[in-house]
Amino acid sequence: MQLKQENGFQLVPEEIEIKEPKRTRAIIIDNPANPTGAVYSKKVLEKIAGLAIENDLLILSDEAYEKFVYKGKHISISSLNGMQDYVLTLHSFSKTYGMAGFRVGYAAGPKKVRGCPFVS
Ligand SMILES: Cc1ncc(COP(=O)(O)O)c(C=O)c1O
Repeated sequence: MQLKQENGFQLVPEEIEIKEPKRTRAIIIDNPANPTGAVYSKKVLEKIAGLAIENDLLILSDEAYEKFVYKGKHISISSLNGMQDYVLTLHSFSKTYGMAGFRVGYAAGPKKVRGCPFVS
């Protein structure tokens, strides 16, 4: 899918698809997105959430820039109904707290991470 500047580099829900379901293990999203600054709409997030449920996929949601939203509202995909078991939310201290040199970040999600043999 090609992102377009004229619509704020937004994803188009109808165009989001999983091209190779058999080979897909996870969906990675970057919301708010770097470098476009796009903040995904609820419709986009619902489409991605639906695909994750249908295909039993983990979502890795990089939300390092959630505190840098100047237009619109940031919604974490993990806050959508029923998604807490599907999402690992990733955060970095580099952006929010200006602590790039510390190399600190964290992941928040369910105890049992979908499809991950190392975490139970
Ligand atoms: C969207 C996004 N997530 C995560 C990171 C990683 O940040 P860091 O490695 O400084 O924790 C970056 C770095 O630029 C980023 O742009």
